[in-house]
Amino acid sequence: MSEQFSVPAPDAGRPGPTTRDRVRRLHEIRTRAINGDELATERQHAKGKLTARQRLEQLLDGGSFTEFDLFRRRANGAGPAGPATDGVVAGAGTVHGRRVFAYAQDFRVLGGSLGEVHAAKIHKVMDLALAAGAPLVALNDSGGARIQEGVTALAGYGGIFRRNVRASGVIPQISVVLGPCAGGAAYSPALTDFTFMVRDTAHMFVTGPDVIRTVTGESVSHEELGGARVHASTSGVATFVHDDEAACLQDVRYLISLLPANSHDLPPSCETGDPPDRRCPRLADIVPANPKIPYDMRDVVAEIADHGEFMEVHEHWAGNLVCALTRIGGRTVGLLANQPLVRAGVLDIDASQKGARFVQMCDAFSIPLVTLVDVPGFLPGVDQEHHGIIRHGAKLLYAYCDATVPRIQVILRKAYGGAYIVMDSRSIGADLSYAWPTNEIAVMGAEAAVGVIHRKELAAADDPDRLRSQLIAGYTEELIHPYYAPERGLVDDVIDPADTRITITRALDLLSEKRPETRPRKHGNPPF
Ligand code: HXC
Repeated sequence: MSEQFSVPAPDAGRPGPTTRDRVRRLHEIRTRAINGDELATERQHAKGKLTARQRLEQLLDGGSFTEFDLFRRRANGAGPAGPATDGVVAGAGTVHGRRVFAYAQDFRVLGGSLGEVHAAKIHKVMDLALAAGAPLVALNDSGGARIQEGVTALAGYGGIFRRNVRASGVIPQISVVLGPCAGGAAYSPALTDFTFMVRDTAHMFVTGPDVIRTVTGESVSHEELGGARVHASTSGVATFVHDDEAACLQDVRYLISLLPANSHDLPPSCETGDPPDRRCPRLADIVPANPKIPYDMRDVVAEIADHGEFMEVHEHWAGNLVCALTRIGGRTVGLLANQPLVRAGVLDIDASQKGARFVQMCDAFSIPLVTLVDVPGFLPGVDQEHHGIIRHGAKLLYAYCDATVPRIQVILRKAYGGAYIVMDSRSIGADLSYAWPTNEIAVMGAEAAVGVIHRKELAAADDPDRLRSQLIAGYTEELIHPYYAPERGLVDDVIDPADTRITITRALDLLSEKRPETRPRKHGNPPF
């Protein structure tokens, strides 16, 4: 498709086109550029996918979209010019009345592939988003680097990556993958704060099934290799996953409503209608006193959150740590909580990575952290050690130690060893720490502790079971009773579980003016 944009020259002796003629022509050209090729639209719909503009309509408030560079296209010297838009629709609009910049790759045009012009349009909208201090949403649906444009296309990606990193922690960057996103292109979503994917239609991989078959001999489908399910549950690449585009884009809107426009702003707070002083008596029924009995931590989160609503980040990956964005008393909060229902809530490599990234994101965007602790420790095992639990656990530790937002810790039951320290303990910088009367804060559980300290006595005892019981009772009474840590100032108060929401709301209020200290260094060197 090579649309002629120019206005015909006046014939000799006849007047040239009037202003109205030109305006009419403008509307014709604009309409054709916007509508695109009908057959290509049908092909897109047949795949269960919306067009780029339909997606932007669903993302943004009705009628709010302002487009940039509609007419921009490839000009190949004397050869035919490329299609208008060059396969990407870029501009700005509002979401719930707040400014957002966005681009949507148009698979109908050259497979949404990225060439020089396509990249330049994306660069422009990224630069504008950063200059305006507003979130950027990228709707990806592309065959990748435009093969005909060679290395120029690759350089276009380089410009995107550099801008992703420059904007990182300054404006929220949200990637939505709604079609193919292959090769190095997949690194842009990976550099952003959140990646949404839609089941069955979205795929992400660095090398596709054909290359894998050639190089390694493995046979795998697109879906098995890089579909939304696998990235949501196995690789941890997808932050959120949805069944269809409409639900996905609605959730992007909800996410934006929770985030500040940029790192200089605070997240918007709103009157949710859920009283900040609402008590939560059900919590005492949800959480059994026996630390070995599991329960669903998400039920606890739902009790505490305004209207029980929360947006779980990486819901299907590393389920032993729940990370969620929610509102408490109308304020956006980043909530981390051990999940006793999955692997007894231990911290492992995946949970550490998930938590670290979440803490870092919250800190970048001034989102207070609330940490609910019920953790037996780090997962023991050769596999974990050999795959670097030290390195990965350190990421979570580093992220918490580095975070300057308000930090509130609530210990529900067990909090043992290094995992207690890492889960935002007072010693690594929690501003306020609370515990339920069911708390057990210690280096390790009584049974394990007695086994280590009294190994020789137990081996020599006539009745080792009786002695073990006595020693466990003594250890528990002396070292892990619920007031041991509060007596030492490591916990600020022991609270009735029913008052958890009230306590958090008040703490958020007390800390709302907390401001980060500035540090005389370029940046730290986190154990990425
Ligand atoms: C140019 C492309 C293209 C590309 C697709 N098209 N990908 N044109 N460069 N990379 C064109 C097709 O020629 C076709 O044009 C139209 O888009 C639709 O493509 P189809 O193949 O008909 O669609 P479909 O069957 O849905 O398959 C989609 C696809 C497939 C899986 C994405 O097109 C594909 O495998 N494309 C190549 C993917 C790829 O290898 N890209 C390079 C990745 S490397 P017509 O005119 O027929 O409609 C990379 C490096 C980035 O991106 C590095 C960054 C540092």
